[in-house]
Amino acid sequence: MKQAIGVIDSGVGGLTVASELMRQLPNEKLIYLGDTLRCPYGSRPEEEIKQFTWNMVHFLMEKDIKLLVIACNTATAYTLIDLQQKLDIPVIGVIQPGARAAINATKNKRIGIIGTEGTIRSNAYTKALHMINADITVISGSCPLFVPMVEKGILSGPEAYQTVNEGLQSMKDSADIDTLVLGCTHYPLIKDVIQDVVGEHVQLISSSEETARETSAILELHDLLNKDDTFFEHQFYTTGELSIFQKLTTNIFSHHLEYLSKIKIDKVSI
Ligand code: DGL
Repeated sequence: MKQAIGVIDSGVGGLTVASELMRQLPNEKLIYLGDTLRCPYGSRPEEEIKQFTWNMVHFLMEKDIKLLVIACNTATAYTLIDLQQKLDIPVIGVIQPGARAAINATKNKRIGIIGTEGTIRSNAYTKALHMINADITVISGSCPLFVPMVEKGILSGPEAYQTVNEGLQSMKDSADIDTLVLGCTHYPLIKDVIQDVVGEHVQLISSSEETARETSAILELHDLLNKDDTFFEHQFYTTGELSIFQKLTTNIFSHHLEYLSKIKIDKVSI
């Protein structure tokens, strides 16, 4: 099937998932939409998160995508089930894959979760972890300053260390965790700083690899894999400033994106 895989995030964070999709599924075309104008979603009320996510989904459905990856934990927490019920294409979120990867990694069964206020408030990770193993102790905390910092392009240096240190203080003080889930797709962009702050004994988990694996399995299951080897170009769209998006994508993909465009998205009724 030649149709593209649609990928959404509130901003640039989902690019960490997109790059893993490209690595694991080199024959697939991606259409990515980052709602940078309205980012961050994580501190917004539930209704707004749902509305903004549906607006993005509508834009991509008009492009005739064959599968949707919600490359945003906040949007996954509040819209995954609704989208799975209402869309007639497969929809994959990032929370279950992240939970699976964490269970796989932990030895002492104490798992830390960091994410946006919305993701932590939803308890979605705790539920996903306990559905697999009720014996897991979950220690969670929100880090509301990380996403705005990443969207500004600050991924290292003194400001990044100070913000991450402060954001993870209670996690460091109270928890004897051996695994920490980066429960926001923006966080892998500052993973070196996070690793330094929590120490090498804590294994960091980002859901991108497991999400790409699940995408691959679902495409195969539904006979949706692209078997054609015609040339295609991935498409990237943002609702915000191109320059910041371009800078960050250069950092993630080590080259400029050929097809990057600034767009407006309409409000749809849900
Ligand atoms: N990247 C998104 C996530 O994974 C959230 C960023 C935001 O707050 O908008 O949760």
